[in-house]
Amino acid sequence: MDLTKLMQPFRLKNRLLRNRIVMAPMLSRLCYPDGVVSPQLIDYYAERAKGGVGLIIVEYCYIDAKESKANQGQLGVYSDQLIPGLGDLAETIQEQGARAILQKKQADLIAMGRALIADPELPNKIHSGRLEDIRTCLRCNEGCSSRVRQSKTQRCAVNAAVGRERQLRLHPVSKPKRVCVIGGGPAGMEAARVLALRKHRVTLIEKEKELGGLLRYATVPDFKAELRSFLEYLKTQVNKLGVEILCPRLATPEIVQELKPDSVVLAAGSTMPLPEFPGSHKSFVATAIDLLSGKYQAGERVLVAGGAAMGCEVAAYLASLGKKVTMVEMLGELALDLEMRSRLALLQLLQERSVEILTGWKLAKIEDAFVLLHGRDWRERRVEVDSVILALGLTPNQELFKPLKKTFGNVYVIGDCLEPRKIYQAVHEGAFTGRAI
Ligand SMILES: Cc1cc2nc3c(=O)[nH]c(=O)nc-3n(C[C@H](O)[C@H](O)[C@H](O)COP(=O)(O)OP(=O)(O)OC[C@H]3O[C@@H](n4cnc5c(N)ncnc54)[C@H](O)[C@@H]3O)c2cc1C
Ligand SMILES: Cc1cc2nc3c(=O)[nH]c(=O)nc-3n(C[C@H](O)[C@H](O)[C@H](O)COP(=O)(O)O)c2cc1C
Ligand code: SF4
Repeated sequence: MDLTKLMQPFRLKNRLLRNRIVMAPMLSRLCYPDGVVSPQLIDYYAERAKGGVGLIIVEYCYIDAKESKANQGQLGVYSDQLIPGLGDLAETIQEQGARAILQKKQADLIAMGRALIADPELPNKIHSGRLEDIRTCLRCNEGCSSRVRQSKTQRCAVNAAVGRERQLRLHPVSKPKRVCVIGGGPAGMEAARVLALRKHRVTLIEKEKELGGLLRYATVPDFKAELRSFLEYLKTQVNKLGVEILCPRLATPEIVQELKPDSVVLAAGSTMPLPEFPGSHKSFVATAIDLLSGKYQAGERVLVAGGAAMGCEVAAYLASLGKKVTMVEMLGELALDLEMRSRLALLQLLQERSVEILTGWKLAKIEDAFVLLHGRDWRERRVEVDSVILALGLTPNQELFKPLKKTFGNVYVIGDCLEPRKIYQAVHEGAFTGRAI
């Protein structure tokens, strides 16, 4: 279906939908414990109706107070007492030009789930041809399915306002401040985007030639397309919103002082140092970042050390380049830092790409042309290699914190600069800081 057809009205029985975009049913856990509609649930659906969707299939409900209730925070339709709340919900959705039904599939319409969590305004943006403004869903499941499965309310890695639309609505400030944001990764760009939307005067300083931070490297593997779109979205937004971008420019306390900011946001991210152990400084040893940034070209037989998500992704990427890849991880399992479904998909990819997996082994020593691994019970193993890639952890870049704090008092430290984690935390901390200033 092309996008023009997607935006054409559609007759559904006796009702006319303004377009063919349907919000798929998704448990939000935003109701009160007894299944009553809450203001947060109304705001959540109102935001999506306002964003231009044609039809909302409201999340699935329970129809009696006992057997059919499957989840805490689930919507109830089991008693007349619930009717006023359900009526309010339906009315609010209709006032915004959308239709609402309870869960039921329809043909000829396009159902979208997570895309509308990530960006409720997606239909309006398609309608007005602003495709570059669409905040793309990462398909990471970290804020939505994963949290909902853990009995938490629905959230989203790229949209901090999900489930608290009213509380996090953006309001322009009456007295704009001059704000300096250090670091053009997702945390710094999200903070700059929100600050600019609130009419602050923002300068974003990035030391590399391009904005993006670690996302520039995270998006290199062939299977990370969603991250690439999200990175483009952030870059487009800070440019469009008139953020002053100093890039490439290394932020120092002196440069920041010259800008005379009222507030400073430190979003300098993290770096991946080469760890110290026998052989780690040999010429054929590099970090995952060196590899993904193109600083280091791997040989034919590659050993990847570190089986968290990053190491696994690097291994799958190298295998896609035709390399013979072996992965080594001390623990018994791989990619434990990933959400369950993404983890299974990545493990399957490693298998499809014939990556040899050695769990329960530790990289002990790197010699010329081979590595020595140590296993349980004093076992040793030699693996012949041309290259070793280390994906063993990141260290936060906090050197600027003390000097900045001395001059400016309040410095907001966000994202991986606070502690290396993920896009979810980088974006949320950026979004909250952007609202706090
Ligand atoms: C290979 C890889 C894959 C990943 N995949 C995922 C994934 O699939 N999902 C996920 O959620 N997370 C993933 N991550 C983690 C994610 O990329 C980070 O959590 C996120 O980028 C952190 O954002 P940030 O803005 O805090 O820091 P960064 O992205 O590190 O950005 C910090 C920026 O600050 C700049 N900077 C530092 N010092 C200065 C200075 N003095 N002056 C000016 N600029 C400075 C840096 O150049 C950098 O651009 C991955 C990370 C890697 C390395
Ligand atoms: C947080 C979340 C909750 C969901 N809850 C339901 C549900 O209650 N009923 C249902 O039929 N599908 C549910 N789904 C599945 C979605 O309706 C949809 O089919 C799925 O997300 C795939 O579409 P997408 O790739 O556009 O997100 C849920 C999905 C998510 C992400
Ligand atoms: S949490 Fe991840 S998968 Fe879920 S809607 Fe947000 S970006 Fe998409």
